[in-house]
Amino acid sequence: MIRLMLTLTPVVCVCSGLALGRLFDIYLDFKDVLRSRAEHGSKGFTEVFSKLIIVSTFGFYLYFFVQHCTWATSTAYSSPSVVLASRAHDGSQNIIDDYREAYYWLRMNTPEDSKVMAWWDYGYQIGGMADRTTFVDNNTWNNTHIATVGKAMSVSEEKSEVIMRQLGVDYVLVIFGGLLGYSGDDLNKFLWMVRIAEGIWPDDVNEKTFFTQRGEYRVDDLAAQELDNKN
Ligand SMILES: *[C@@H]1O[C@H](CO)[C@@H](O)[C@H](O)[C@H]1NC(C)=O
Ligand SMILES: *[C@@H]1O[C@H](CO)[C@@H](O)[C@H](O)[C@H]1NC(C)=O
Repeated sequence: MIRLMLTLTPVVCVCSGLALGRLFDIYLDFKDVLRSRAEHGSKGFTEVFSKLIIVSTFGFYLYFFVQHCTWATSTAYSSPSVVLASRAHDGSQNIIDDYREAYYWLRMNTPEDSKVMAWWDYGYQIGGMADRTTFVDNNTWNNTHIATVGKAMSVSEEKSEVIMRQLGVDYVLVIFGGLLGYSGDDLNKFLWMVRIAEGIWPDDVNEKTFFTQRGEYRVDDLAAQELDNKN
């Protein structure tokens, strides 16, 4: 649907340009009004008035459209997804540059052939910006591979180590946004790791165990024991 809209956008733009051009051709042309006024006396006032209304309405729309487009491009299209801005409760703005810094660290401090395990969202970014091998990225079609990473992230450390040794993992990248309250971190995506892992290994991973008795997903001191993983 989005793709169809993107293809049609130029067509729509050209068509509306033609339509608006024709509209303004007609309504910005005051010659006939002046002529009929000269010929028949005072009849022209309402005509001029209605023309002005139409022209100013569409002028407003065009002006508003430019404002809207400028706003949309400056927020939606030109905000990079690697450097993020977040707004705290008190209204202050924080720039989250952790992704770029982490990828840069990996690039400068790890052996070139090291393999980095991270959730699939970061696969391409690690590949592109850190130049390291990943296990899963956005083009991973084999669900088992994604589930394996999900399982390694959600089982206990001892079991996780076995999986990671099998895979040959050298580094693990996790995103934590707790202090700033950045909501796109791995704790927020964690239930997806659990769900996808549970889809393949329902005996090893169980989503319910990550909820408190009241059915809440909490990551503070009242977190479910499985999530806490203290014992
Ligand atoms: C992942 O790929 C899908 C299409 O396969 C695309 O819609 C989505 O935006 C991509 N996500 C990221 C984070 O690149
Ligand atoms: C997905 O990966 C697993 C483990 O590597 C493999 O056993 C399975 O055959 C793969 N499935 C497909 C559809 O390629």
